[in-house]
Amino acid sequence: MDKIIVHGGATLAGSVRISGSKNSALPILAATLLTREPCTISRVPDLSDIHYMLTILSELGCEVERASGTVTVKAEKIRTVAPYDIVRKMRASVCILGPLLGREREAMVSLPGGCVIGDRPIDIHLKGFEALGATTLVEEGNVKMRAPNLRGTTVNLRGKFGSTVLGTDNIMMAAVLAEGTTIIDGAAEEPEVVDLANFLIKMGAQIEGAGTRRIIIEGVKELHGAKHEVIPDRIEAGTFLIAGAMAGREVTLTRTNPEHLQSLIVPLTKAGVSITSQADTVTVKSNGTCRPLHLETLPYPGFPTDMQAQVCAMLATTDGISVITENVFPHRFMHVAELKRMGANIELQGPTAIVNGVRKLSGAPVMASDLRASAALLLAGLQAEGTTEVNRVYHIDRGYESIDDKLNSLGAHIERVKA
Ligand code: EPZ
Repeated sequence: MDKIIVHGGATLAGSVRISGSKNSALPILAATLLTREPCTISRVPDLSDIHYMLTILSELGCEVERASGTVTVKAEKIRTVAPYDIVRKMRASVCILGPLLGREREAMVSLPGGCVIGDRPIDIHLKGFEALGATTLVEEGNVKMRAPNLRGTTVNLRGKFGSTVLGTDNIMMAAVLAEGTTIIDGAAEEPEVVDLANFLIKMGAQIEGAGTRRIIIEGVKELHGAKHEVIPDRIEAGTFLIAGAMAGREVTLTRTNPEHLQSLIVPLTKAGVSITSQADTVTVKSNGTCRPLHLETLPYPGFPTDMQAQVCAMLATTDGISVITENVFPHRFMHVAELKRMGANIELQGPTAIVNGVRKLSGAPVMASDLRASAALLLAGLQAEGTTEVNRVYHIDRGYESIDDKLNSLGAHIERVKA
């Protein structure tokens, strides 16, 4: 397994171009199953999660072509059983359930396993599908669904941890081809849900309210092919904002969307980080100091759980006591033990991390555990004294397109060692 060696102490400066959003591209690629006609999706990031999704689509019978960041999918004749050995590798595979049910009225997909950030149930997805008239059966590790008659309905998708992003995506993708009107209450409001809805509308779907808690869908008979460019990745952008705040002099993000970053820009600015934005660029200037923060993760437009680990890394060397509460995935603190190996002073109290900033972290061999925790360890290594060796780097390659090259282009000193 590859590892990444981070030599600490570099000062970042320059500009970095943000890639297309992983969490938008994945459901949009799944949505191409909803039509027999070809769909062309551009700005698709080159990530292992995207590779897994394209493999699943091919296994289902789709013609898939990829030319750098543009993917064309033609789902003329498709199977409805997804292969376990690929689906198990990526929890987000669950978002093929909705389009398979919408298009073929049946689906069999292996249940997503849990993962290091916590249990990943799909009970709310299944509740939504059943409300649309599907029968669902979970056996032998698979979820099997049939819906001879898919009828519009009203369903609330909020669970005890708030809304569900892929759950909202799944029900929307089934409802667009159902008979009648579907109202999704408690819908996720993430920009990636809006991006999916915009793609479905280009395909001929009738959807209103995406980006609010209430989405209204008028079912149609069939959908046609469409072309779509994926929105910028707000989590990659946020990760580089934190890199700039921690180890930057002046870092500019290009081809991003400042509006999607407000839940990060506002608290960072309050803490004293200088951030300016215009059109599709955001610039972060750091004088190396910022004030401690009290944050809690919430569904969009709240502070994103996918930025929690990266902010933890920044607060580890922010003078004072910071508090971060994780409301979305209460166990998403795998990065804390590794940051403590680097000298961080962090105490966990249930879903809350109490971070007592130290002057400097020390480089150390650390273990990546999930996508965002890996990014946090990279960021910590940038600023640490000495060298940090991040193992199991495949985690980071799932969600960041060439993050080591991008950081090196800003002046970092990072080596990727093929194991
Ligand atoms: C999406 O996952 C993202 N993944 C995650 O990003 C992100 O952390 C998450 O949304 C929250 O923003 C993709 O978009 C591919 P949820 P998703 O359903 O949709 C509970 C990354 O790092 N829940 O919104 O799977 C669930 O356990 C990844 O890029 C139920 O209880 O997350 C969690 O506590 C990690 N029952 C909360 O809701 C359900 O049926 C939010 O999960 C579904 C979810």
